[in-house]
Amino acid sequence: MKDGFSKLSKEEKIKWVNETFFNSDFESLELIKKYWNEDKSFQKLHDEFAENTLTNFYLPLGVAPNFIIDNKNYTIPMVTEESSVVAAASKAAKYWSTRGGFKSTVISTTKTGQIHFKFNGSSKKIETFFISIKNKLEDSCKEITKNMNKRGGGIININLLNKTNSIKDYFQIAVKFDTVDSMGANFINSCLEQIALTFETEFNESNIFNKSDKLKIIMSILSNYTPECVVKVELKSKISNLKSKDISDPENFAKKFVEAVEIAENDISRAVTHNKGIMNGIDAVVIATGNDFRAVEAAIHAYASKYGSYMSLTHAKIENDEFVYWIEIPISIGTVGGIINLHPMVKWCLNLLQKPNSKQLMSIIGAAGLAQNFAAIKSLITSGIQVGHMKMHLINILNSLGADEYEKTKIVQYFKANKVTFNSVKTALKKLRKNEL
Ligand code: MEV
Repeated sequence: MKDGFSKLSKEEKIKWVNETFFNSDFESLELIKKYWNEDKSFQKLHDEFAENTLTNFYLPLGVAPNFIIDNKNYTIPMVTEESSVVAAASKAAKYWSTRGGFKSTVISTTKTGQIHFKFNGSSKKIETFFISIKNKLEDSCKEITKNMNKRGGGIININLLNKTNSIKDYFQIAVKFDTVDSMGANFINSCLEQIALTFETEFNESNIFNKSDKLKIIMSILSNYTPECVVKVELKSKISNLKSKDISDPENFAKKFVEAVEIAENDISRAVTHNKGIMNGIDAVVIATGNDFRAVEAAIHAYASKYGSYMSLTHAKIENDEFVYWIEIPISIGTVGGIINLHPMVKWCLNLLQKPNSKQLMSIIGAAGLAQNFAAIKSLITSGIQVGHMKMHLINILNSLGADEYEKTKIVQYFKANKVTFNSVKTALKKLRKNEL
């Protein structure tokens, strides 16, 4: 046990961790420091994003160009450690750029929060009471909602939900919000806590309840399930136009593609992998733009189960000789607020995206997810996934085998015409080192 760890200085924290878990190893200490930025104030900015920061943790930031989304050309920033993700997104984007590009519709942007409470008296009474103080609840948030109202957002409505059928005495005050260009978590939670306080105060001051009527506020928190903050992104093409260098029989390709999606719509084992591929694209952009990828993940996976069983987030059909393919997902993100205004790289990424508003960013993220899914399914139903995946992973294998730059160039050349596996790369490197390749 270590008491008061958070109160130690950064150096003291590192010293304690190194002594306790690394046997005061010099290399471990050096590694931590190697990741520091030389510019002290720049480093401090990053240190202060979170508690107990010791150092930085690098992930590659790549870009995927040629995304035509709603007739606008984007180069999308992606943060990911998976070697084939950016290449797959770029390839899919380029392919669709000559076939009309991605078309998006932001279906809605409403977010919700709940005050969960218990009340043991008559449901009718609490409902009547709620209606009588409903305006006061909203008014009590005026200070908090002032700026949001100026930006065109705020509280949309407040309702009481009787949940006593699921849990004894359980009710919710459900509040809907428009948070405009911010994700709005802090704003929503502040409003909810204020509403809960006002509700409790009004309850205690009211004389309509009996002595035995008890109100217990359990908690007030936003919901990360955002089924009313949804974007749909679509790709559409005449089947004959699907023809390309690697799609020689577009009719067969389209049919097989629709069948592959149908499997993911019906089989959970496939659906999870299918959606994981979509999240390769979505998370990468969500992270690059400084948004909360855990919230986005949680909402999207819950949405994938909205019909009672977990299923594919993308859908495809052939209609009147056209291939129609789309994704529909909840994405609660922001383009202002939180870390977004602070993290220099996040700001850079948003500038690269030409300063999108939150609706545009929802479309961009949806397009990245759809592109990733298209690339995965295209590979799966044609060449198989491993050819492309292992080609992209080749450099990682070579790095893990300690290859130098000359060896890397030679081996990459060799594997243009050969199948990449860990063992085949190991063998090729051995041969090269013996001048036998
Ligand atoms: C790998 O990260 C993602 C895929 O497995 C997705 C899929 O199977 O659709 C290729």
